[in-house]
Amino acid sequence: MSAGGSGTGASKYSSLWRLRAFVRPFYPQMVGMFVCAILATAASTLIPLVLEAVVNGPIHHHSTAALVPMFFLALGLGLAQAALIVGRRRVQSVAIMMVEREQRNHLYARLQKLPVEFHDHWQTGQLLSRVTSDLGTIRRFLGFGAIYFIVDGVQYLVVMALLIATYPPLGVAVLVTTLPVIVLARRFGSRYSSISRRVQDQQGDLATITEESASGMRVVKAFGRGPLMQERFGSSARTLRASSLELISLRARFWGWLTLVPNVSMALSVLIGAIAVAHGSMSLGALVAFTTLLVLLQFPIIDIGWILSMAEQAATAADRVCEIFDASVSIADRPDAVTVTRARGRLAFEGVGFTYPGSASPVLHDVNLVLEPGETVAIVGLTGSGKSTLAALPNRLYDVTAGRITLDGTDIRQITLDSLRGQIAVAFEDPVLFSMSARENLLLGRPEASDEEVRAALSLAQADFVYDLPWGLDTRIGEQGLSLSGGQRQRLALARAVIARPAVLILDDPLSALDVETEALVEEALANVLGSMTALVVVHRPSTVALADRVALLRDGTLVAVGTHHQLMELPEYAMVLSVDYDEAMQ
Ligand SMILES: Nc1ncnc2c1ncn2[C@@H]1O[C@H](COP(=O)(O)OP(=O)(O)OP(=O)(O)O)[C@@H](O)[C@H]1O
Ligand SMILES: [Mg+2]
Repeated sequence: MSAGGSGTGASKYSSLWRLRAFVRPFYPQMVGMFVCAILATAASTLIPLVLEAVVNGPIHHHSTAALVPMFFLALGLGLAQAALIVGRRRVQSVAIMMVEREQRNHLYARLQKLPVEFHDHWQTGQLLSRVTSDLGTIRRFLGFGAIYFIVDGVQYLVVMALLIATYPPLGVAVLVTTLPVIVLARRFGSRYSSISRRVQDQQGDLATITEESASGMRVVKAFGRGPLMQERFGSSARTLRASSLELISLRARFWGWLTLVPNVSMALSVLIGAIAVAHGSMSLGALVAFTTLLVLLQFPIIDIGWILSMAEQAATAADRVCEIFDASVSIADRPDAVTVTRARGRLAFEGVGFTYPGSASPVLHDVNLVLEPGETVAIVGLTGSGKSTLAALPNRLYDVTAGRITLDGTDIRQITLDSLRGQIAVAFEDPVLFSMSARENLLLGRPEASDEEVRAALSLAQADFVYDLPWGLDTRIGEQGLSLSGGQRQRLALARAVIARPAVLILDDPLSALDVETEALVEEALANVLGSMTALVVVHRPSTVALADRVALLRDGTLVAVGTHHQLMELPEYAMVLSVDYDEAMQ
């Protein structure tokens, strides 16, 4: 999905304003930047006044002696301006980069907190573009746009005051010619913000396509769909290009109008000023100062163009970033949540029902099942019957929408998430390994596990192949563990779940990618481990079912039979579910 909703009207900058919390620790630096910028501008504004003094003094009186101090004064002002600009950039780069880093860390932390449900509905590219380019846009605005908005505002007011003081009639005339800029800016701002929101969303779409085709490269190549993906990418890139051009053309037109304003003022001033000098109502020095000051007025006016566009883009970026901060953390610790350190492992589903957010019909309903401590229960059912969904509920990847799940009699929603997840480990159907070393991947569940424990878990999962990798446990596993086979990844994920030494182990079809021989070895080893913990194992093959003390048959989201393998063998449906899947697996 392309997350929509753009800021409108008066609240347009409200998201940006909310992000000020990140700037607060750097207020001293911000003030330093601002002071440097103001002083640099003041130095540049004083230079025309020195010029006026030169023309009206030494030049007018043909005395070269007085020129020397004037020269040094102008030179000093120029040097001071340069030094102040360097100073501002120094302070600015450090402070603003820190602000950006803080924002990025908080955003990432938020992404970690958000429930799986959030990630089900957001494209990776949209998240990527928010964490990277949107935060960059906000940084550029804070570092330049915001500072120059104030500095240019002050410069405009000071120069305007000096112009009016130098020659009031002409000063007022210049003031009037600059007023249309306000109207222009307002019209530009609202159009610019809607287009820039579109551009930023489209950048996210493009990032999504890039990310998907990189991670799905094998599928794309295997089906020879390169050209199709190219076309999808090309069409998305074309859309982005069209919107970006629209943005550029709007900015160009705005800038065109903006540059016209000071030029009109300049032409007017030279004409009226020359007449005034001829009539003796204005000194030549004053005219020189007036026109030089007018050049200084150009900057604030033309700057409004990029400051406004930066501000609009930053406001849009802030809206997009705040969408993540605002997404509700629906699964979080309750204030009265308890910490569970050593659960016995009695897991009970009591009238559990579950409906995916936004979905009309429930995937699970009226599920009643009690796993006694140390017991292993296998879940079988046709594909799509809700097995993986059931396996995702006990450690609260999703919260039940009806009934409750208890661990040792306590509703799992009353247990702190960290401690709950420390007690219940899961190995998923589709094992994800991170681009870290094999050891780091294995220790995700319990970083303090000893080498001995790692060795035991690896041997249990028949994953001793890790020791034969080029750097053994320190071998970096490629992105998503792609350099390993599917079966190797599954075995690592299984070892990872076992190392966590949970009270409850949930295995979602953990042996599907193993050959029959390895599967038999893993099963044998699993049988030993499963004795010491409660286990809920989703299985497809008759051989794995033998691991379980009891089997539960899931049909259309509810348990239709629970019993031992032998008891269930009486049911034609049970035999069919296992053999159907068995045939599928053998294909
Ligand atoms: N994130 C999700 N959002 C919405 N619906 C989902 C989501 N995940 C699964 N579903 C739906 O829930 C139903 C059950 O899916 P589930 O993955 O639990 O089945 P399963 O029994 O594990 O199947 P399989 O044997 O193929 O792994 C399916 O109809 C599926 O479309
Ligand atoms: Mg499944």
